[in-house]
Amino acid sequence: MNQATAASLRVPFVDLHAQHLSIQDEIREAIDAVLADSAFIGGHYVSRFEEQFAAFTGARHVMGVSSGTDALILSLMSLEFKRGFEAIVPANSFIATSEAVTHAGGTPLFCDVDPDNYLLDLDYAAQLVTSRTRVILPVHLYGQMADMHQVRLFADKYDLVVIEDAAQAHGARYQGIGVGELSAAATYSFFPAKNLGAYGDGGAISTNDDALAEKIRRLRNHGAIQKYNHEVEGFNSRMDGIQAAILSVKLGYLATWTRQRQAAAATYHQSLEKMDLPLPHTTELERHVYHLYVIRINNRDTVRRKLSEAGISTGIHYPVALPFLEAYRRQGNQPEAFPVVYRQMTELLSLPLYPEIQRDQIEYVAASLAKALNP
Ligand SMILES: Cc1ncc(COP(=O)(O)O)c(C=O)c1O
Repeated sequence: MNQATAASLRVPFVDLHAQHLSIQDEIREAIDAVLADSAFIGGHYVSRFEEQFAAFTGARHVMGVSSGTDALILSLMSLEFKRGFEAIVPANSFIATSEAVTHAGGTPLFCDVDPDNYLLDLDYAAQLVTSRTRVILPVHLYGQMADMHQVRLFADKYDLVVIEDAAQAHGARYQGIGVGELSAAATYSFFPAKNLGAYGDGGAISTNDDALAEKIRRLRNHGAIQKYNHEVEGFNSRMDGIQAAILSVKLGYLATWTRQRQAAAATYHQSLEKMDLPLPHTTELERHVYHLYVIRINNRDTVRRKLSEAGISTGIHYPVALPFLEAYRRQGNQPEAFPVVYRQMTELLSLPLYPEIQRDQIEYVAASLAKALNP
């Protein structure tokens, strides 16, 4: 790459506009159809998307809801545990995972993570279980599915329900197992920047459990399946028709976009291999869907600033691990209790990755990173 090209390259962290441009006619048609039918909340477009997403996930039921956070809250509430139940949650996730436990009347028990793949450390989790623990919530972080065979064995051993937080992992697989196959339910987010993103908030729950599906359908709509027949108190957590219609269009592209994400990740791997940095750790046995491409760097903040000066936007997922957030000060969590996340939260760096990213942009990121590391 010559100097002029490099200087003119700008690499955003994600590029939702590029994606929109590639499908804008179909999106406009889909929105127009909803407007023509005034099918704004629930209705035909939502049920059609639910059927399509059920086919995509292989689950018997999919319930569209208003966000990935509500998907977690409603799933946990549908389990009807007594207040004060405990749920094991990985210490590195977005706060939605633990917040949902609290909103459902429980307490999150934070679990340190595997230093290589950032997913739940089940040996650590075993130390957390008490007589009140009812749930384990693996998060398929960055698009990489947790070892669900091991999670299932763990859950069976301690008699726990498994809810998968697949907000970042649409279509991920591990050793022949898809998201939602070995758990009571899996939850998804359609936040715009997710692998399958709406044009606003949206989420879904997939399950093969008929009774759970029925409870969740009730809870998302003020406790009623039929209008005004409120069997319990619930929430207003329905999916919008416009979001559902947009998601139906975008679902048709998800397989291609996932392949593009994987190809971009492969280009990063090739370009960064020589730099001796911890890169995403994955094996032949899994299908990582690369919501994020996360590396670790000792002097992360300096490197990040230099990348920014070179026109490259990066992210940190997450700058403060859950146990150390102000929101959990009440738990009095100490760094020594979470050695892996405590160290890694100052090192994690998410590089730009989205389906439309170009090879020369990735190579520019890699070259800029090499320069930032060895000025
Ligand atoms: C791991 C994880 N869980 C849950 C959520 C919550 O999803 P939403 O933003 O759709 O409420 C997100 C998304 O931000 C997430 O990344």
